[in-house]
Amino acid sequence: QWGLNSNWIGKTIIHKQTTPSTQIIAHQAAQEGAAHGTVIIADEQTQGKGRMNREWHSTKNKGIWISIILRPAILPYLAPQLTLLAATVLADVLNTHAGLRPLIKWPNDILLNGKKTAGILTEMQAEQDQIQYVVIGIGLNVNHEKADLPEDIRSKATSLKIETNNTLAIKEIIQSILLTFEDTYDTYIQGGFPKIKKKWEGYGFKVGEEIAIKTLRKRWKATFIGIAEDGALVTKAEDEEPKKLYSAEIEWFKE
Ligand code: BTN
Repeated sequence: QWGLNSNWIGKTIIHKQTTPSTQIIAHQAAQEGAAHGTVIIADEQTQGKGRMNREWHSTKNKGIWISIILRPAILPYLAPQLTLLAATVLADVLNTHAGLRPLIKWPNDILLNGKKTAGILTEMQAEQDQIQYVVIGIGLNVNHEKADLPEDIRSKATSLKIETNNTLAIKEIIQSILLTFEDTYDTYIQGGFPKIKKKWEGYGFKVGEEIAIKTLRKRWKATFIGIAEDGALVTKAEDEEPKKLYSAEIEWFKE
């Protein structure tokens, strides 16, 4: 049905018309032994999950809501590399498939013209030093009109349709994401993180520039040096040593 000419990704595809969240289905499937590369696709999510416990609006047939189950033989602390990898995959697909110029806002938001069009949620099950499985959740706004976006995010979110004036074929984009993912992942397993890091930094929003950083407790300015081997945001504030940040946000949007 999906006609995917792949080696290992999407050999099993679980397709739901509607589901609370493809992440939940993916966790269940993985716990029941689903293979590396199993993909969950939904037309609609009623309780889509975003990072930091936020909700992710997943309107029926307007976007791509998928989760990919991976069983990588890497150490758990390196799992954030997979999020960065997934972000480069999305950026590549938007670039080659839709001719767009996406930027990646650390760690994983895809921006078009300064507005968010996609997000990635990585969840991992690990025991001691071993990953049982990783679920990479990808949400991409495709055919939303402005009015389809919830009012509270309308000023800072966008979709491929809003940016290109074209209605795009969701199925083709899913195929392209999965095939590009397979390719990029294979390169990563064979050649390590440096290539991914380089690509990510090429798409990186404000790499080398001054950024405003926000954590739960404070807000400050520093230069964005790049990303570290473990996925951290590397910054340098004046008169300080470079610092690695793991859970912070880059402030980006001005009303
Ligand atoms: C974010 O930017 O906060 C991450 C958003 C991730 C959304 C996707 S949609 C498919 C998968 N299922 C979910 O419930 N969330 C992820």
